[in-house]
Amino acid sequence: MTTTDPDHWNQVYDARPETALTWFEATPTVSLDLLARHLGPGQALIDVGGGASRLVDHLLGLGAGPLAVLDISEAALAASRARLGEAADQVAWMVADITTFCPDQSWWVWHDRAVFHFLTEPADRAAYLAVLDKALEPGGHAIIATFADDGPEKCSGLPVMRYAPNDLAAEIERQLPGRFKPIESHRHMHITPKGNRQNFQFSVFQKTAG
Ligand SMILES: C[S@@+](CC[C@H](N)C(=O)[O-])C[C@H]1O[C@@H](n2cnc3c(N)ncnc32)[C@H](O)[C@@H]1O
Repeated sequence: MTTTDPDHWNQVYDARPETALTWFEATPTVSLDLLARHLGPGQALIDVGGGASRLVDHLLGLGAGPLAVLDISEAALAASRARLGEAADQVAWMVADITTFCPDQSWWVWHDRAVFHFLTEPADRAAYLAVLDKALEPGGHAIIATFADDGPEKCSGLPVMRYAPNDLAAEIERQLPGRFKPIESHRHMHITPKGNRQNFQFSVFQKTAG
């Protein structure tokens, strides 16, 4: 089983409501705080592995966008679309594996909460970062949230990589030398719907111009 198996993720989303998933957040406060600083009016955002996250609901409410949500699971995106109703038409929904995604446009902000950390194979991480480099506008920002170095070792039955902000910055620098500058990072304790604690780190990187 790997993270790039859509069947795994479709089964996860079909098995229970989004509100029961360990990663559920009614209000994604850390992401919204970061986006308040790094996403200006009219600037385009892609939520990579956005799943059934309510980030898109909040961003629509703030008038942000254009917005795109990409996920390997069609079931996850269907849950978001059903929840949003007519407002879903304002979002570009993309069913794709981010490690093989071929972007035909670019975005100002790339947001990923809890996707990159599933990439345990170096080749998958290299592929993800190559897509990031291609998809992000020069000067734009990538927000990448992963389990922290003292976070859980598994999620959704899959092994994960855990990162301190310095480890994540080093991984990106190794794959894409000189392309991304770390701007800020934060630790965050997520409380799951069952009350368990999960330590995350959120890092923001700026793509160098040119
Ligand atoms: C832990 S969930 C996080 C969902 C969402 N970002 C959030 O914060 O609620 C991980 C998500 O990544 C998606 N995913 C896993 N591997 C992926 C891949 N290779 N490409 C695109 N999406 C992927 C899953 O379907 C799932 O929705």
